[in-house]
Amino acid sequence: MVSTVGKKIVMAATGAVLVAFLVAHMAGNLKIFLGGNAFDGYAAWLRRIGEPVLPSAGYLWLQRTVLVLAVGLHVWAATALTIAARRARPVRYRHRLAVQGGYAARTMRWGGVIIALFVVYHLLDLTTRDLNPAGPGAGTYAAVVRDFAPGRWYVTAFYALAIVALGFHLRHGIWSAFQTLGWRFSRGVALAVSVLLCAGFLVVPVAVTIGVVK
Ligand code: HEM
Repeated sequence: MVSTVGKKIVMAATGAVLVAFLVAHMAGNLKIFLGGNAFDGYAAWLRRIGEPVLPSAGYLWLQRTVLVLAVGLHVWAATALTIAARRARPVRYRHRLAVQGGYAARTMRWGGVIIALFVVYHLLDLTTRDLNPAGPGAGTYAAVVRDFAPGRWYVTAFYALAIVALGFHLRHGIWSAFQTLGWRFSRGVALAVSVLLCAGFLVVPVAVTIGVVK
């Protein structure tokens, strides 16, 4: 039985792992502005990390294992904390918006669901390429350029929606974690990190859709 504080620590620690991945992923995506060779070279390098100690793509599988564990524990802690909060107050609040945390907690849950659905689509799109117009054989640069081509603006719109949902989720999540730790400037730092990540992710699909990257 993990205490409430323990579950909050699990939420914060797994959230930090996921944010670290997002920062690295966002920075890597920006390499697309250096051209096809640089971007495909970067994708190939991701598969060589740790060689020859690790087999080809060994690091990637390690990272996937850590991400799956982090997401699993994050969702488990969130669900357990929600159930505990419901038990503590069995009668529903009549004016939910007036309750501190009610609105934010609901936004977090729905945001989490949108992000989870997006990740499933995203993996089928750009990792397995089952839903990508360039198909499994194409390079990563070609897959991204074909994916967000002007005619497929609705894919860009869906990515944008998911990234904005991610931004709101991060803003509240980082703020809550910092509050738990008692840090000052939590609101400003949470907003700055979320806006930077959102902007960094958004710029790639938008650049392809408007023809800056082709
Ligand atoms: C518009 C922004 C994004 C673009 C252009 C993008 C692009 C890509 C590409 C090209 C890959 C395949 C990399 C490779 O196999 O070499 C990939 C993988 C991945 N992306 Fe994204 N991504 C974006 C946003 C996101 C977001 C917001 C998340 C998480 C919420 C995310 C999570 C992942 C994950 C988990 C993988 C799989 C990594 C692996 O193979 O283990 N991506 N992304």
